[in-house]
Amino acid sequence: MTFTEKQEYELLASISARGEIPVKFVYLNEGAEKWDEVYKQWAEKEGVTDEEMSLLLAHMDSFIAAFDNIEGLNLIDLGCGNGIPAARIISKLQNKGLKVNYVAVDISKEMLELASKNLLKEFPELDITHLHTDFEKNSLTDELLNIKQQTNYPNLLINLGNTLGNYVNVSAVLTNFLESMTLDDYLLLGNGLANDYNPQKIIDTYNIPVIVDTVTSPARSLNIYDDDDDFKYIWSTAKNRVEGRIKLSNNKQLTLAKQEVDLDKGEQVLVHHSYKFSEASLTRLLSDVGFRTELLTTNKNRSHILVMVQPTRYSVA
Ligand SMILES: C[S@@+](CC[C@H](N)C(=O)[O-])C[C@H]1O[C@@H](n2cnc3c(N)ncnc32)[C@H](O)[C@@H]1O
Repeated sequence: MTFTEKQEYELLASISARGEIPVKFVYLNEGAEKWDEVYKQWAEKEGVTDEEMSLLLAHMDSFIAAFDNIEGLNLIDLGCGNGIPAARIISKLQNKGLKVNYVAVDISKEMLELASKNLLKEFPELDITHLHTDFEKNSLTDELLNIKQQTNYPNLLINLGNTLGNYVNVSAVLTNFLESMTLDDYLLLGNGLANDYNPQKIIDTYNIPVIVDTVTSPARSLNIYDDDDDFKYIWSTAKNRVEGRIKLSNNKQLTLAKQEVDLDKGEQVLVHHSYKFSEASLTRLLSDVGFRTELLTTNKNRSHILVMVQPTRYSVA
């Protein structure tokens, strides 16, 4: 796995100050194929990916109806992954007679390529634009507003697949999305929910070999993790999230951005976290950032939520 100089600086700060490797690094290089494998295994088990997609497809008409009288849409896929969830949305939109301009946004070049390959197989005529960027660090405003001007369609931003719960600073990412929208755009978010009954079920969903291999690969390539070290998923009640932690069995030394970092035997490094909201906490967060909720729905056992929001010009006193 190779990192840019900027990414090395970010890793230097996050590992040395917080003992953490941000989740986004998992998807770089060969991580794209690994994620594809995770996605397929989850889909086979009708797990995480299918719950969210069933919910989305069941409510697609309401999501589309939120737009006034449109001829087409720019579908902005924030964290496109393998493009398979987008394919199902595009198919629904096209069946409604809408034109779709697809914009794949991802930190991983390999994910962008895989998404395009999968989508072009199904929709050979599809207009696809790649935006290779880290939206936890870089503003999306110029690119997304420019795309709107070129097509004259509103933007539907989607951030699906439990990605919201992975960010280091969720409010900052949501603010970045908000600042790249105008009043006729919508953002659709999908994430897992935690309730009193499901933390063990959540851990079991993550604690499978293909995921452990995927989430530990940045640490492995940085020489932080080897076969002698322990890896464990736990549920953090205090933080309402599942955490994947490496416990070091030996002292480790690594070099990042030409600087040495020492890690001691027994130290822990957080390599994966997935925050699970409650309906109330997600609604509050979105409102605090400056969104108003247009539609909100959960599945029957309340393990997944989908929310469609829009920027609000008016604050509630
Ligand atoms: C959990 S996968 C979800 C993929 C897809 N949306 C789905 O529903 O299956 C997260 C995706 O978001 C991308 N991603 C994560 N953090 C990102 C960031 N900070 N900037 C850009 N892309 C990011 C990853 O590379 C990956 O493709």
